[in-house]
Amino acid sequence: MKVVVTGGAGYIGSHTVVELLERGHDVHVVDSFCNSERSVIARIAGLVGKPVPFSELDILDSSALTDCLIEVRPDAVIHFAALKSVGESISMPLEYYRANVEGTISLLSAMDAAGCSRLVFSSTATIYGEPEECPVPETASLRPPTPYGRTKLASEWVIRDCVDAPDSKLIAVILRYFNPVGAHPSGLIGELPRGLPNNLAPYITQTAAGLRSHVRVFGADYPTPDGTGVRDFIHVVDLAVAHVAALQVLEGGDGKSLTLNLGTGRPYSVLEMIQAFSDVVGHPVPYEVVERRTGDIVESWADPSRAEALLDWRATRSLREICEDAWRWQRNLSCRALED
Ligand code: NAD
Ligand code: WQD
Repeated sequence: MKVVVTGGAGYIGSHTVVELLERGHDVHVVDSFCNSERSVIARIAGLVGKPVPFSELDILDSSALTDCLIEVRPDAVIHFAALKSVGESISMPLEYYRANVEGTISLLSAMDAAGCSRLVFSSTATIYGEPEECPVPETASLRPPTPYGRTKLASEWVIRDCVDAPDSKLIAVILRYFNPVGAHPSGLIGELPRGLPNNLAPYITQTAAGLRSHVRVFGADYPTPDGTGVRDFIHVVDLAVAHVAALQVLEGGDGKSLTLNLGTGRPYSVLEMIQAFSDVVGHPVPYEVVERRTGDIVESWADPSRAEALLDWRATRSLREICEDAWRWQRNLSCRALED
């Protein structure tokens, strides 16, 4: 299939582009590079041994996006382009609604103009808020606790309403990711957090690399086995493979819209993650327990059974592989920083 990947130079998008190209799909990346480096495109090309066509544009530029899709004529679009910082969304909600909701509307309009009716959408498990039960099914209550989460849920509503409209040809697979972590095993692409990382894994690898003095563990007084937060950490390559599988479902075209949790179904605590990374890097990763982070939930892990059944997919990479791949990427980042 010919696939346009919005946000294809980003963390999850770049890994998905690699998997698509390695499986013979034609890919065209659309990215503004507002939160990624142009060099990612060349690194993907080097990795797969194929050129990676791309258009540098803001998906909010509806005219440019429409022209691009009319020119490329994709069979499907995978929509990653969005702003994703929870903290930032609290201080700049309008920018987040514009980027994430208006951006999705702009894309849907452009797809309609270009006659493209297949969409895979990046959603997030944060829309569940503090889940009533774990593992979390797709039928769980939706209570996004932040503007970021609300922009992703609103985007889901827009997509589903467009799918359900009379005479609509749009079909969509909505994928709710739990906690993506890790990097491509080549060490050539991975997460590129700008400034202070928002998430646990890059904070641990930067600490292990000596770039930070210690990891702050946000609370050890939660009602969990070791008192720290519990999450479903899924390897980014497992996520990427699920997107390829979602395309195959869309190619069949027999569903209207499908909403699926992408997780491992295996919960790990913050301290278990720190220990797993310590085992891989070969020395204890220093940490300090501090007060809870405002807005954090206690625990969340997926019931991935629908995705496993309907996508014929399963997360296969272990916690050790996650740590090994993340650590290899961090070491390569450190080497590149020294070369630059
Ligand atoms: P990322 O920031 O690494 O990648 C997003 C990419 O989109 C970047 O390359 C950025 O330059 C581009 N982009 C952003 N706004 C754009 C715009 N207006 N026009 C064109 N390009 C634009 O983020 P990621 O971690 O790869 O996340 C990808 C998607 O997955 C996002 O929709 C995010 O909400 C969702 N998601 C991420 C996580 C996570 O923890 N990383 C978890 C759940 C869901
Ligand atoms: C995981 C655990 C923290 C950092 C976020 C977004 C969500 C999604 C994924 C986009 C928690 C603890 C963290 C640190 C810590 N992103 N932690 N010290 O909060 O589960 O989800 O990223 O869609 O929307 O909310 O991920 O990695 O920030 O935190 O102790 O320096 O690690 O308290 O228990 P989170 P996270």
